[in-house]
Amino acid sequence: MQRLLTGLQPSGALHIGNYLGVLRPFVNMYEKYESHLMVADYHALTTLKDPALLRQNILDVVRDYIAVGVDPKKAIIFQQSEVQAHTEMTWIFNTLITMSFLELAHAFKDKEARGLETNVGLFDYPILMAADILLYDTDVVPVGQDQKQHIEYAREVAGKFNAAYGDTFVLPKEQIIKDIAVVPGTDGKKMSKSYGNTIPLFGTREEIQKAVMGIVTDSKAESPENVYNIHRLFRSGESLATLYKENKGKYKVLKDTLIEDIEAVVAPMRQKRASISDADVKDILKDGGEKARERAEAKMKDVRQKIGVSI
Ligand code: ADP
Ligand code: TRP
Repeated sequence: MQRLLTGLQPSGALHIGNYLGVLRPFVNMYEKYESHLMVADYHALTTLKDPALLRQNILDVVRDYIAVGVDPKKAIIFQQSEVQAHTEMTWIFNTLITMSFLELAHAFKDKEARGLETNVGLFDYPILMAADILLYDTDVVPVGQDQKQHIEYAREVAGKFNAAYGDTFVLPKEQIIKDIAVVPGTDGKKMSKSYGNTIPLFGTREEIQKAVMGIVTDSKAESPENVYNIHRLFRSGESLATLYKENKGKYKVLKDTLIEDIEAVVAPMRQKRASISDADVKDILKDGGEKARERAEAKMKDVRQKIGVSI
């Protein structure tokens, strides 16, 4: 059986871009693989330095995973920080990778360009992500378009290690769903937690309503492009075409319909989410942590042998 792994950072409330771009594709495919769904809490630490908020976000993101339909009996759901091998492996990979190679990373360059603190962890982010992926012999990594380069890094890292110490790591492939690789936000740019242009996945109906009403509409165009580009992800084909044809220029009607279409998808998941307690989440993470640790530790044993620290 092939192996699947993805993860999200518990750095804020998930949005419909995260859902459509990653979580829904994961849910649609994970039962056909040996699947791992990670909470990338050490990645989040590169930008989030509020312990109470981080703790809450970790619990919430696992609740989100279950609410969107991931069965913890069929996938290993775990916290990155619970498996020490990730940071250990990162160090070993660090000794094989050059600074100039990491300097090419888009995510780092973007943060630098926006004047954010570029700590060493942020710089090394792609290597920690390579460790996340490679430790589990992952074949397939479902992600949105913005993560493509990170998977390329992971392949590069695997290749470097294999060349130096012999065949050890599987070269992973990204899985990016073409039509939804970049879900647009309320301003038409990529929806992102850091751009303040999100429609929250598990907001209340009122919060979703507020976000949709805030979608920037071009007052000249008869068909509001930003609304349409989100709407096409919730309603398809003829029904969508008819709706926009019959309501030319009626932005309020179109936005109201979009709210209803989002609600139809989200409401049942929201209900399920409300029934998942903190204790449930902790049990899931305990179990997932044990399983992930066992796998990662077996890999580390092999790695320590190969690099020559096991004497
Ligand atoms: P954000 O940009 O909101 O901080 P993350 O970087 O935490 O989101 O992304 C988590 C996952 O969700 C990644 O796999 C990423 O590719 C995907 N993702 C984020 N935003 C979008 C989007 N607008 N469209 C499609 N996928 C997205
Ligand atoms: N960098 C990813 C993001 O921001 C999160 C992540 C961390 C991840 N480790 C991963 C995604 C491993 C896939 C596989 O979305």
